[in-house]
Amino acid sequence: MNAIEELKDVLPITAALSDEGHLAIGGCDTVELARRFGTPLYVFDEETVRGMCRAFCQEFAARYPDVRVVYACKAYIGRALAALLAEEGLGADVVSGGELAFLASVGFPPDTIYFHGNNKSEAELAEALAYGIGQVVVDNFHELELLSRLVGPLGRRQRVLLRVSPGVDPHTHAKTTTGVLDSKFGFPISTGQAEEAVALAMASPALELEGLHFHLGSPIFELDPYREAIDIVLSFASEMRQRHGLELRELSVGGGFAAQYLPEAPPPPVSEYAEAIVAALRQGCQRRGLPLPRLAIEPGRAIVARAGVALYTVGAWKEVPGVRRYVAVDGGMADNIRPALYGSRYSALVANKPLDGRRQRVTVAGKYCESGDVLLWDVELPPLEPGDVLAVPAAGAYAPAMASNYNASLRPAIVFVRDGRARLVRRRETYDDLMRCEVWPQE
Ligand code: LLP
Repeated sequence: MNAIEELKDVLPITAALSDEGHLAIGGCDTVELARRFGTPLYVFDEETVRGMCRAFCQEFAARYPDVRVVYACKAYIGRALAALLAEEGLGADVVSGGELAFLASVGFPPDTIYFHGNNKSEAELAEALAYGIGQVVVDNFHELELLSRLVGPLGRRQRVLLRVSPGVDPHTHAKTTTGVLDSKFGFPISTGQAEEAVALAMASPALELEGLHFHLGSPIFELDPYREAIDIVLSFASEMRQRHGLELRELSVGGGFAAQYLPEAPPPPVSEYAEAIVAALRQGCQRRGLPLPRLAIEPGRAIVARAGVALYTVGAWKEVPGVRRYVAVDGGMADNIRPALYGSRYSALVANKPLDGRRQRVTVAGKYCESGDVLLWDVELPPLEPGDVLAVPAAGAYAPAMASNYNASLRPAIVFVRDGRARLVRRRETYDDLMRCEVWPQE
């Protein structure tokens, strides 16, 4: 088996061997892409993104009459992706004025935009209202009041969901766990604060309370946390119906659908998430005599992780005799902070020699000035030489999105590939970009 076959579940669906014996994606030779656009380079395979959009839409629609698939822009957003999502008929979840600006820049339909966040500013809320976005997902009492005040003079009502915290642990990384009681997000159900928020939202003439939202964390490899949380939130909705006359027209179960980063760690297929969530929702509503609400889901990483492959050029090495062989690439924590921040693990292959069956244990280091800047600990790869192109699959989610200018590095270029054509959708930054926000010389 060659490296492309070994990694086929984490590579984009179009991954293949090129005529030159290199890794090809979307019909484009990745070594050629690295030469043409430079490295580090993020290559997104359009077919894989579209395939995931369709998988979520179809698997849920096949089981439930009224579903909205809302892409979580925080996983990665750019103008080309925003346009693609609109073409595929997805909605979008934004958490900042900046993410909304990306969507607005391509005329993304406002109706299916959801605005999340635990500290939306007055300016951001005003921008969202001016764009006419579909739903504001209200997170706290301060925001309830602020939003009511901003909507008041507009002479209309704003549709809102309330973010509740069901107190369910999804067993993922502590830094990305959100639905538990001790979290900065949402109104806790168990403390009575969620009920208070329902009463306030229903009493506000400016707000139209459409329903409830929760997000447990991510990535979630298990199905039970969704089932459990749906049950808790439906019990809450049923009580709120009796006590306050709440009609649950929409329930958003958030995102967190896992992506495959390693060949040996497959997540549940989309169909299983759909089955578990829809079954829990149908049964829970039936048991409590609640009409079926619209269901919203917010996949982020699951849409883009597998589509994105990071390409790096190999440079220096260091052998610590009897301890470890380090090989450094021309990127690292500035373009992908996930290994350093969460201990996330990836796989890799050498794009210019995927047929090379030799294996040597190496640790792939980044080029930034921190010992923790390591992309891959102890991976088995063919002997690496300076100039080799290293491909890191499943890098599409939360890598470019969390990229920084640490060490005054230049954020990488991004290309979309499809049918043998590569489109540059974001150019590499330049030193001019680094200077652009500097105020100098001083008056
Ligand atoms: N909806 C809400 C309200 C969220 O907070 C999130 C993620 C999502 C949806 C999408 O979750 P996804 O389907 O992408 O797992 N930087 C971390 C992930 C932080 C996720 C924050 N919220 C990482 O690199 O793993």
